[in-house]
Amino acid sequence: MTIIHDEYELVDGIERVDFDCVHPWLANTYWTPGISREKVVRAAKHSALVISALTREGKQASFGRIVSDKTRFAYLTDFIVGEEHRGKGLGQAMVRFALEHPEFSTVTNWCLMTLDAHGVYEKMGFKPITEPECKTDRWMALIRKPS
Ligand SMILES: CC(C)(COP(=O)(O)OP(=O)(O)OC[C@H]1O[C@@H](n2cnc3c(N)ncnc32)[C@H](O)[C@@H]1OP(=O)(O)O)[C@@H](O)C(=O)NCCC(=O)NCCS
Repeated sequence: MTIIHDEYELVDGIERVDFDCVHPWLANTYWTPGISREKVVRAAKHSALVISALTREGKQASFGRIVSDKTRFAYLTDFIVGEEHRGKGLGQAMVRFALEHPEFSTVTNWCLMTLDAHGVYEKMGFKPITEPECKTDRWMALIRKPS
């Protein structure tokens, strides 16, 4: 558990997530427009780490999840901060929470996809895979249309 600005508590666990709040957030993103609540819950349930920032009143302020084998690989996804809570460090704090989590200490390969939030992740050490040290030619991807 991590406290931020004496205002938010960062916690992990699907049982701490208010899906009535997180589902509409994700259904209004560019990456999962209109996603069903069932898919949001299923994805969280099958994630290795589910991170929430909660206000002092216990309200959901942000959400993010990690898909991982907890050994070598981890993928950050669905990172979102409630509009009124943005710009207070929650996005970066959630990334740090994952990177420093003891269950992920041996994970060497961390990745994510973003359209326009590169700056947030660059501050946490992420680099575009076009950087030579990322050895772009080793990465492959298959993007399938959702069924
Ligand atoms: C992107 C998002 C998660 C960032 O969270 P946040 O809590 O507002 O960001 P933080 O306060 O932790 O800090 C972000 C830092 O990165 C910088 N930054 C760079 N690009 C940014 C971007 N596109 N959005 C937000 N911050 C950005 C900020 O200037 C800030 O720097 P500072 O600490 O020097 O002030 C949040 O704005 C959000 O939910 N946006 C809509 C959903 C989204 O795009 N999610 C990302 C999907 S990959």
